[in-house]
Amino acid sequence: MSKNITRDLTEVLQTEQKKYYPSKKILKNANVPDYEKTLKTANKDTVKFWEKAAEDLIWFKKWNKVLDKKNKPFYKWFVGGKCNLAYNALDRHIEEGKGNKLAIIWEDETGKTKKYTYQALYEEVNKMANALRGIGIKKGDRVAIYMPNIPEIAISMLACLKIGAMHSVVYAGFSAGALEGRIKDARAKILITADGSFRRGKIIDLKKIADEAVKKCKTIKKVIVVKNNQAKIKFNKRRDIWFHDFIKDQSIETKLTKMDAEDPAFVLYTSGTTSKPKGVVHVHGGYSVGVLRTIKWVFDLKGDEIFWCTADPGWITGHSYIIYGPLMAGVTTVMYEGVPDIPTPDRVWKIIEKYNVNVFYTAPTLIRAMMRYGLKWPKKHKMKSLRILGSVGEPINPEAWKWFYNHVGKRRCPIMDTWWQTETGMNMITPLPSAPLKAGSACKPFPGIIADVVDKNGKKVPAGKGGYLIIKNQWPSMIRTIYRNPKRYKKTYWSQVKNAYFTGDVAFKDSDGYFWIQGRTDDVLKIAGHRIGTAEVESAFVSHKSVVEAGVIGIPDNIKGEVIKAFVILKKNVKGTEALKKTLKKLVRKTLGPIAVIADIEFVEKLPKTRSGKIMRRVLKAKELGLPLGDTSSLV
Ligand code: PRX
Repeated sequence: MSKNITRDLTEVLQTEQKKYYPSKKILKNANVPDYEKTLKTANKDTVKFWEKAAEDLIWFKKWNKVLDKKNKPFYKWFVGGKCNLAYNALDRHIEEGKGNKLAIIWEDETGKTKKYTYQALYEEVNKMANALRGIGIKKGDRVAIYMPNIPEIAISMLACLKIGAMHSVVYAGFSAGALEGRIKDARAKILITADGSFRRGKIIDLKKIADEAVKKCKTIKKVIVVKNNQAKIKFNKRRDIWFHDFIKDQSIETKLTKMDAEDPAFVLYTSGTTSKPKGVVHVHGGYSVGVLRTIKWVFDLKGDEIFWCTADPGWITGHSYIIYGPLMAGVTTVMYEGVPDIPTPDRVWKIIEKYNVNVFYTAPTLIRAMMRYGLKWPKKHKMKSLRILGSVGEPINPEAWKWFYNHVGKRRCPIMDTWWQTETGMNMITPLPSAPLKAGSACKPFPGIIADVVDKNGKKVPAGKGGYLIIKNQWPSMIRTIYRNPKRYKKTYWSQVKNAYFTGDVAFKDSDGYFWIQGRTDDVLKIAGHRIGTAEVESAFVSHKSVVEAGVIGIPDNIKGEVIKAFVILKKNVKGTEALKKTLKKLVRKTLGPIAVIADIEFVEKLPKTRSGKIMRRVLKAKELGLPLGDTSSLV
């Protein structure tokens, strides 16, 4: 593969202006046939737009105010309304007579499959909800979930919501230390996990990691364990209980807790600028509205689709577009617990054909990994069922975009490059199927979202110039606060640019008003689409006795988008050997989990710093990549 991923965005902007228009068939079926007109109408009054969108859901009591701005930036939506996210994802479909429809198709790496109709899922969720109530879990309590991509994770999440508890899902690729930190911050009362999972045929010992994490968590009273891959595990009889035993004798009906629109539904931890992850809080009302409206419009859902999002439920993409979005829209969601190239590099294309997937939503890193195997594999599969493709998690380079368009979508399927964040809850900058596309651009903001590119002072920058990406209005599925840290919420998102939400991303707008996202400002990394804070990685390095200080940066990688390079200052008299590099790499992996792969370590004497002592990662990066150093006035 070429070095395309390192192409400069200003050059991309000039060379990638070709527009890809939707076919007549796509246009004819589009939920939003007139793209520009819809944008215009929605943006005349965004609050009105979102109020109308809320009518797609079932409310137990209607709101009396759509958007409350009294206590900025602690905005409230649909104030006074009563609803429940799980009700809109499950119960309503049963009440509407759609119980026999498939809700989940699950397959694991070994080829084992399971299917749940809406009725079956509803019953399992109710049993779990009753069992949780039975051990004293109640409205407002936090439940930690550390599980692979299996139906039981959806069951557990939905069950929490039914009884008004908040879930805190921790991605199963995180280490014991990372899980422990998140459990402690959320003060979770119980943990739901699994014995293990298969990955490339190897057993991942989830229960062992969970045990290690829970050892130091005083708040955890019970650990509920799904028997998933029959791995041999240690069982603590006083604390642990098998999931199947836990729900065994429970009733298939339960009393649903009616929630206020602003009651929190879940917390999801994500990386930021400090070494402590942020607990992003989303609520029942607005989150439901934003996710349902975006999934229906971006992916053109009518209600009978097979929808496959390849993310993991442990990330926001999984929350919104594997579980809640597809279920609220009443479609069938595919869950695949495995890697994309086992047993052969066409596993993904095979799954699409096997289940007649209509919408395929994935990440650029997966596309680039598949490109490496050559055209032979997608060529074997016609994938006739596909209608819409999606990309998320990091910028998609035009070459990967075109490969995806030509060889997976076979030039029939428009690609929705969706830009958004854990904090935004839903797709924010994205085309709709009726929009003309450009390869590598996330197109324009979703109707009802006003975004812009500005300089440090909040001044709009001209087309073709880079700047900070901001959102100028409020939207229903926005983050409400950082769990137990409202000050950090205010500081991180609402104090950088006046009266705007600060995304932390750098972007360009072209002369057609299309957005081109460049990436994060320099303290958050995106490794294969996974978000990791530089400070988290640095603090893992510094925990080693030989390390004085460390600065880490992301450097471009053709498959993963970015990989980590670390600059490390050692204690006097410690030799920077290859063996020490190995030890440090292992330490970081152990501290953060397998997603934090260190590609390279360089031992240095000094790190570039500002006068106030902050490491200037931007300077490290510019030097490493041979780029101009930019403004160095604050450099000591
Ligand atoms: O930098 C942007 C990048 O991912 C960040 C958000 O990461 P996370 O909260 O983990 O959520 C990922 C999935 C929504 C953003 O600040 N990002 C996400 N989608 C895109 C993207 N960058 C470019 N293009 C995208 N489509």
